[in-house]
Amino acid sequence: MHRLIIILVALQMSCALAQDVDQAVVRYTDLRHPVYSTTGMIAAQSKTAADVGAEVLADGGNAVDAAVAVGFSLAVTLPRAGNLGGGGFMLVHDAESDTTTAIDYREMAPPAAHRDMFLDENGNADPELSRFSHKASGVPGTVAGLYLAHRKFGSMPWKRVVQPAADLAREGIVVTRDLANLLESRKERMCRDAATCKYFYKPGAVPYRMGEILVQADLAESLQLIADEGPDAFYRGATAEKIAAEMKRGGGLIDMQALAAYKPVIREPLRGSYRGYEVVTIPPPSSGGVHVLQMLNVLSHFPVAAMGAGSADATHLLAEVMRLAYADRSKHLGDPDFYDVPVDWLTSADYAAELAASIDMKWARPSIDVAPGVAPSPESEDTTHFSVIDTYGNVVSNTYTLNFSYGSAISVAGAGFLLNNEMDDFVSKPGVRNAFGLLGGKANAVEAGKRPLSSMTPTIIFAGGEPWFATGSPGGSRIITTVLQMLVNVIDHGMNLADASNQPRMHHQWFPDELLLESGFSPDTIRLLEARGHIVRPSSRSMGSLQSVAIRDGVFRGASDPRRPNAGASAPAAVDATVH
Ligand code: GLY
Repeated sequence: MHRLIIILVALQMSCALAQDVDQAVVRYTDLRHPVYSTTGMIAAQSKTAADVGAEVLADGGNAVDAAVAVGFSLAVTLPRAGNLGGGGFMLVHDAESDTTTAIDYREMAPPAAHRDMFLDENGNADPELSRFSHKASGVPGTVAGLYLAHRKFGSMPWKRVVQPAADLAREGIVVTRDLANLLESRKERMCRDAATCKYFYKPGAVPYRMGEILVQADLAESLQLIADEGPDAFYRGATAEKIAAEMKRGGGLIDMQALAAYKPVIREPLRGSYRGYEVVTIPPPSSGGVHVLQMLNVLSHFPVAAMGAGSADATHLLAEVMRLAYADRSKHLGDPDFYDVPVDWLTSADYAAELAASIDMKWARPSIDVAPGVAPSPESEDTTHFSVIDTYGNVVSNTYTLNFSYGSAISVAGAGFLLNNEMDDFVSKPGVRNAFGLLGGKANAVEAGKRPLSSMTPTIIFAGGEPWFATGSPGGSRIITTVLQMLVNVIDHGMNLADASNQPRMHHQWFPDELLLESGFSPDTIRLLEARGHIVRPSSRSMGSLQSVAIRDGVFRGASDPRRPNAGASAPAAVDATVH
């Protein structure tokens, strides 16, 4: 019945479109406004990849078909974060069964990994080893994860959704401002690896300039194998052999056996409610969902809307809530297959009430005075997110990554793609911060087969049982607080997706004990925050890059964060609803 209603609505939309296609899709290049359509919506960090997804929707594919096409296309158009050599998390809301599923395709530590593998001869953590060596890579999960999503929920042939990425790599992409700038600034690191230098620079290590064409022939071949043979090409076949050979050459730990053993995991999403809306989000081994729910639970004890967006009160409250959550993250979060993560307690109303009661609205508590709670019995920051919603009522919220921009900066020679440095998200040594300044303990120690703790937070909000909006962001440790602020801006402050994305952001992660503010906070607010004891620091970088889609009253909205260039929301010009 539910499905019938959706088909009827889709047919109605399709009829409206037939009458007036041009007016049905309103495109704004100005990112201060959402993009509107009646035909579904995709928001991604690369407008080219979002357009690939829109074509899939226009051909009658569903949100998962489009998401898989976007995921593979980003590996071509956004090589700093889009990937074959990384991993991530996807939430899928399937309209027909009215269920939401979490797909964990996080990288896994290879079988030969062990707790002390990133310590030097003096027992000190060696960040070069955990970030920029072949040992920095976990077994990649992206190809298996996207395949699993497609097998379970896709409607189009596999080849139809992978082929556009192979074609983009073979035919070449126009180098964007973002790609040109980043490749220029990363040249020293990237050209330490001969394959990476060959793949992303012209002869003589000359950076591509904006507007030039980047052809990725080896990547095209790897993608073609995936399109033709499925994930076995990557995990057992010709590409697996190239990965294993690359690892052997560089002293890495991923061999054919480790690749063949990789499995994505279907997990139950985490659910909570905030001001009457249902919040469905990602479970461990990401910490993102747990802490977004935990922080929303605490915020529900306070009149956030009345405080006003960006006010000293609201900013102080958010900072205190974040401080508490990140203290808990340091102790209690890790891979649930290896460590008993106390999710129920961390997201319980009782614990939220206890934390809320501990917050002093007049004074910032020094982080040294805040310890992780005791339960009754874990970039550059270049992850990337995309969100998709279709006319059938399906929604995808997907965050995936290589960890740093361009991961370890090491490419698989002959296969054309970069490897992740996700092993740095483990704790190399208790008390030593990772690249994002995050602390951790034994819950997130390196173990063979374990998944490093993540902050990725793909999330879907439901209103009255129906999907309302989907969102997520890159940003390392700031992912969680970026998503939290999006939810508060939309739900508490009533902003549209674009306004909510564009608001100046703040971040606190317990340690370092500082309140980071993007530009845009008023000097009055900053003075009031300092008067309450906050150590306020201007953030040297912008925080996150939200890619969000929504539906309300039959109209789809899409908004791409303006903080990073070349992102975009895209909608198909028409959908033939009779295909489904
Ligand atoms: N590598 C960043 C994260 O997973 O949180």
